[in-house]
Amino acid sequence: MKKTEYDNLTNASLRVAMGAAAERFVPYAFDKIDSTNSEAKRRALAGERYALIAADRQTAGRGRMGRAFASPDRTGAYFSILYTPSAALSDAVSITSATAVAVMRAIGKVCNRQTEIKWVNDLFFGGKKVCGILAESVMRADGSLALIIGIGINLRGSFAGELADIAGALDTDAERATLIAAVLGELTPYLDDSSDRTWLMDYKRCSCVLGREIEWRHSGSAQSGRAVDIDEDGALLVRASGGETVRLSTGEISLRVV
Ligand code: BTN
Repeated sequence: MKKTEYDNLTNASLRVAMGAAAERFVPYAFDKIDSTNSEAKRRALAGERYALIAADRQTAGRGRMGRAFASPDRTGAYFSILYTPSAALSDAVSITSATAVAVMRAIGKVCNRQTEIKWVNDLFFGGKKVCGILAESVMRADGSLALIIGIGINLRGSFAGELADIAGALDTDAERATLIAAVLGELTPYLDDSSDRTWLMDYKRCSCVLGREIEWRHSGSAQSGRAVDIDEDGALLVRASGGETVRLSTGEISLRVV
């Protein structure tokens, strides 16, 4: 795809794609920004309650574990949802798990691609990571909590250097505004009712981890076992090599090649 053929990501294109949701989530599109999560935080602290912040590119895109998230110009959908819960939300693992399912469903509908979910919240396509999710929260001066869910989906192009083997793209011409609006549409029902567990079945069905031998680190030492289930909070249940069941609720795992 030539540069001139890129789709437009503007306040107007987001508003059209979002329809009625734009009356609740104010859309903001940027050509360039440090990080849509950082912008969402700034807006949350300034008192905004619901917003959808998207950018053509990020100069300081952030991932989990303090990593950078590569966000090249207009080849991905980089966006953050600013949400203010009316009641206490359940823990961050189920939020990110529900988000992974929302993104997986939206990609299926808009891009016609079936992705796999790698616990806890990475989406894979063709054996490479095509989407990452970073959920954060900030407390405002009035004590209210704002939830920020940042999502980066690689749509086209390829990665060089150390990312070449691990990061991929969906290879789709889908319009970013349409995809972003679809993710928001899939996720909002869960955000509005966090006891909703309708995502769990799809999460398990599309997991590329269940039934596999995995490794993780605990207090600095490598552990291994077989991933056997995912519970209602999104935690991963693992049959460790010693026979005991371990519940992982955060952190990172790798798939073992056996
Ligand atoms: C990860 O893979 O560790 C999470 C990556 C999250 C990236 C998205 S892109 C939009 C939003 N803004 C950020 O700075 N990060 C998230």
